[in-house]
Amino acid sequence: MAVQRTLSIIKPDAVAKNVIGKIYTRFENAGLKIVEAKMAQLTQAEAEGFYAVHKERPFFADLVKFMVSGPVMIQALEGENAVQVNRDLMGATNPKEAAAGTIRADFAESIDANAVHGSDSAENAAIEIAYFFGK
Ligand code: TYD
Repeated sequence: MAVQRTLSIIKPDAVAKNVIGKIYTRFENAGLKIVEAKMAQLTQAEAEGFYAVHKERPFFADLVKFMVSGPVMIQALEGENAVQVNRDLMGATNPKEAAAGTIRADFAESIDANAVHGSDSAENAAIEIAYFFGK
């Protein structure tokens, strides 16, 4: 598997809990390098654009509201098989179903405030990295 990049967001709940460093340590321990990073307060339009794929889903409005509720930490991670490595670190979308030791199991409270985002494919990773960091 080649070196890949993936887009990660530490969501407002985890930033508010002051666990950015703990989550970064997990990336580093898994061999993922932080190659771009910025803290941002997303606008409504940025959050809606980022999650546009979900705009017909019943949870869309609440998801956007949550994503603009406080600062987020956005990073591009690079490493072997980075997309899957990050998804494995994150755990299942619903923290109640997330495997022990994953970021969501350890830091998330609910399916709608679930600590982290990670790209789900290399194709989406490229789109999402460009969305926040340009080409
Ligand atoms: P999704 O892409 O399915 O999950 P993941 O973040 O694991 O890739 O959903 C995107 C986000 O939408 C998810 O992180 C939290 C929110 N969401 C809800 O609030 N309720 C839901 O029922 C689902 C499926 C997602």
